[in-house]
Amino acid sequence: MNITAIATPVEDQLVDIVVVPYFENSDTLTGSAKKLDTLLNQSISKLIGDKEITGKVSETTSIYTYGTIKAKKILIVGLGSIENSDLESIRTIFGKLTSRFKVKETNQSLICLDSDTISKLPQKQNKNQFIQAVVEGLMLGDYEFTKHKSNENNKQPNLLLHFNQDEIPELNKVISDTRIISNAVNLCRDLANEPSNILTPTKLAETAKKLSLENPLEYKELNREQMKDLGMGALLGVAKGSKEEPKLIVLEYKGNPNNPNKLALVGKGITFDSGGISIKPATNMGDMKADMAGGGAVISSILAIAALQPRINVISVVPATENMPGGNAQKPGDIVKTMSGKTIEIDNTDAEGRLVLADAITYVKSLGATEIIDVATLTGAIVIALGNICAGVFSNDKNLADELIVASHTTGEKMWELPMFEEYSKQYKSKIADMKNVGGRGAGSITGAKIIGEFAGETPWVHIDIAGTSRTTEPKGYQSYGATGIPVRTLIQLVLNKSLSL
Ligand code: BES
Ligand code: ZN
Ligand code: MN
Repeated sequence: MNITAIATPVEDQLVDIVVVPYFENSDTLTGSAKKLDTLLNQSISKLIGDKEITGKVSETTSIYTYGTIKAKKILIVGLGSIENSDLESIRTIFGKLTSRFKVKETNQSLICLDSDTISKLPQKQNKNQFIQAVVEGLMLGDYEFTKHKSNENNKQPNLLLHFNQDEIPELNKVISDTRIISNAVNLCRDLANEPSNILTPTKLAETAKKLSLENPLEYKELNREQMKDLGMGALLGVAKGSKEEPKLIVLEYKGNPNNPNKLALVGKGITFDSGGISIKPATNMGDMKADMAGGGAVISSILAIAALQPRINVISVVPATENMPGGNAQKPGDIVKTMSGKTIEIDNTDAEGRLVLADAITYVKSLGATEIIDVATLTGAIVIALGNICAGVFSNDKNLADELIVASHTTGEKMWELPMFEEYSKQYKSKIADMKNVGGRGAGSITGAKIIGEFAGETPWVHIDIAGTSRTTEPKGYQSYGATGIPVRTLIQLVLNKSLSL
C-alpha cells in the first residue's frame, strides 16, 4: 500500500474516490468536506438533512461528482459518535475500507484528514494517535496471505491522505513510523501463516538474519552443537525428534549502550508442533505451523524497534525447532537437564513450549537481560479461560506487567493478567526430577507460566500466552483470516513508552 500525505486542494486531485470521514451527529461540515459540499451543490449536507447520511460506524454513502470536481466519486464514511470513538474503532473502520481501494476501477483514492475533521476529536485522542490509528487500520486491513495462490491479483492501493499544509511535516513522521510498525505486524503474520515445510527453523533464522541487515541490529544464531556446549538439554530434547536443525536466533539492538538495562523479548519458535510422541489429534493439526507466532512476534518487533531507534537496549531471542515424533524423539518419562542446571521430567512431549523457553530464558539472563518478556502460543487452556478475544498475562513483577497492560490499552490488543499464587507450584512437582513439564488439568495456563517462571527466577519477567489470539478464523475490521500479528504492536508500544520514561 502506497500512502502519501498531500495538501493541494481536494477538488483538484485526479483520483477515483475521495473519502470524507464523518462523525455521527456532527452539526456542520468543515474544512475540505465543506468545500466539497459547496462544489457539489450541497449534495452531502442535503443527504445529512434527509438522514440518509447519519455517520454511524462504517456507514458508507457514495456520491457521483459528474465533473464538478476532478474526482469521480465521493465516499462518506461514518466514524460513529465522537463520544464512543476510540483508536480501536478508527482502526476497524479504516481497516474495513481497504477492500474498496482494491477493486479494479479504483487506482488512486484520497482521504480527507485535514485538521477540521480532526479538531472534532475527543480530548482522549490526540491528532497523531488518530492518524496512526487510521494508517494502522489501512495497512493492517490491506493484508492478506495470498502468496501461494497462483492467480491472485495483488493490487497495491495508492492512497493520498489530505492534510493542511502546516501539518504535513509532523504527520509525515507519524505516517512513516506507523508504516514501520504495521509492516512489522504484517511480517509477523506472514511468518505465522507460512507452512512449516517452507518456514523451517533454518528459514526463520535466515529471514531474521536477512532483515537484520537493513537495521542497526546485531545477529547471531546457535546451532545444535553450540546448544549442546551451553547445556541446553530442554531445547535439544524437543529438537531430537526432528530432521530439521534447531536454531536459537538472537537479534540485539543497542539503543542506549551506556545503560546497563536490557529488555529481552523471548518468543516460542516451534515451527511445527505435532505434539511429538504425545501426538496431537489430526483435526486442525495444521494450525500448529503457527506455533512459532511468539517467535515471529519478537523478531518482527525488534526489527521495527531498531528502525524507530528509541534510546533503549533490547534483545530478541527465539528458540526455534520442530516438535516431532520419530525414532529419535524425546519420550514421556525422559528427564532433561536445562542450561540452568535444573532438571525436568517430561510428562507429556506436547508441553514443549515451556521446555524451549526454559533454556532461552536462562540464555538471555546469561547475556545480561535485566527484564524479560516471553511470548508463546503456550496452552490450549488459555482459549478455555479467555477465548480468542484476549491474551493471558502472567508475571513475577507488577511494574513490568502494568507497563505491558498500559501499552495494550493504546494498541487495542487485549490482554488480561492471571494470578500466579505459590500454591499452583505443587501441581508440577516431580518425584524424581526438580519439576515435571505439566501441572495437571486445573489452571493449565498458570502452571505452564509458572514452569517458565522457574527459569526467570528473580529477574522481572512477564509471560504472554497468545495461543488463543495469534490466529483467527473470523476475519473482522483490520484482521483477515489467519495470523493476527498479536502482540507486535504492544511490544513496540511498551518499548517506546519505556524509552520515553527514561
Ligand atoms: N502449541 C500448543 C498450544 C496451542 C494450542 C497453541 C492451541 C495454539 C492453539 C502447546 O505446545 C501445547 O500443545 N500445549 C498443551 C499443553 C499440555 C500438554 C499440558 C495443551 O495446551 O494441550
Ligand atoms: Zn506448542
Ligand atoms: Mn505442544
